[in-house]
Amino acid sequence: MTILITGARGQIGRVVVDRLHSAGLPVRAASARPAELTVPAGVGTVELVLDRPETFSAALDGVKQVFLYPNPAGIDELIKAATAAGVEHVVLLSSSSVLAPGAESEPLALHHSQVERALADSGLTATFLRPGAFNSNARGWARTIGQSLPVQLAYPEAEVASIHPDDVADVAVAALTGDALTGRSLTGRSLTLSGPESLSFRRQLALIGEAVGREIPVERISRAEQERQMAAFMPEPMVASLLKGWEAADGKAEDIADTTASLLGRPARTFAQWARENAHVFTA
Ligand SMILES: NC(=O)c1ccc[n+]([C@@H]2O[C@H](COP(=O)([O-])OP(=O)(O)OC[C@H]3O[C@@H](n4cnc5c(N)ncnc54)[C@H](OP(=O)(O)O)[C@@H]3O)[C@@H](O)[C@H]2O)c1
Repeated sequence: MTILITGARGQIGRVVVDRLHSAGLPVRAASARPAELTVPAGVGTVELVLDRPETFSAALDGVKQVFLYPNPAGIDELIKAATAAGVEHVVLLSSSSVLAPGAESEPLALHHSQVERALADSGLTATFLRPGAFNSNARGWARTIGQSLPVQLAYPEAEVASIHPDDVADVAVAALTGDALTGRSLTGRSLTLSGPESLSFRRQLALIGEAVGREIPVERISRAEQERQMAAFMPEPMVASLLKGWEAADGKAEDIADTTASLLGRPARTFAQWARENAHVFTA
């Protein structure tokens, strides 16, 4: 009956653990660094390292469902161990990037599609959550905004229908609890998820500005300069993937996935709400 939550230190995993535990369900929180987990009293923790298969059997002991963070490293071994342990259902935190044109050769999409494929081929029942960009990606601007510097962007008018991480967590909980909490079974489905509105980066920054009480200047820079800045903290193929996506989204509204609202039975949380909840991140 136990539900294993991988990535329990992460922003989605942490919320899924809290929600399931509050609902009275037996949860085990897994992390590569279990000592750094903060979980509610009564929640068991376990070490799970994807490139160390020897950590799998203890983590999966007595587990019927897994909430899985995507990582192709070790996925075949993990599936083998999950099958042997009697796991019945895996809910994967995938990404809408798997649906984009050219996904077969995009590193960002492949990171997710390889895990989807391994699960689809495994015989395990799997539910794929495919959110687009998270609102929390805006945290990447925190230091610049905190220092009152202009945010430099090559594509300030690129639009994203980004999603509140808590909405992803709520859909994950619905998928793991099935009829128990929502009255709807999502088992075995592939669910595209987005926020409720398509916003340019410039508009997101204006909303963060409203949340922190001052205007945030935006400075347009060249693509080459943006590439140089991102390459300082990100692998080159990832930089290329992201820039290509933003170029394609320049001045174009992103489709809204109505799945988020229809699955939750309420409107998806707005970016403005996320900005208000996280204003402290931008004022340090
Ligand atoms: N960001 C997006 O726009 C987006 C969009 C679609 C899909 N996704 C998918 O969603 C997943 C979650 O992305 P995220 O950006 O929100 O990451 P996150 O949940 O904050 O962290 C992901 C995992 O990284 C490990 N980690 C490493 N350093 C950490 C730290 N300082 N604090 C907390 N955790 C840390 C944790 O696993 P351990 O504890 O096991 O080390 C954690 O569960 C990604 O795998 C991505 O593929 C993201």
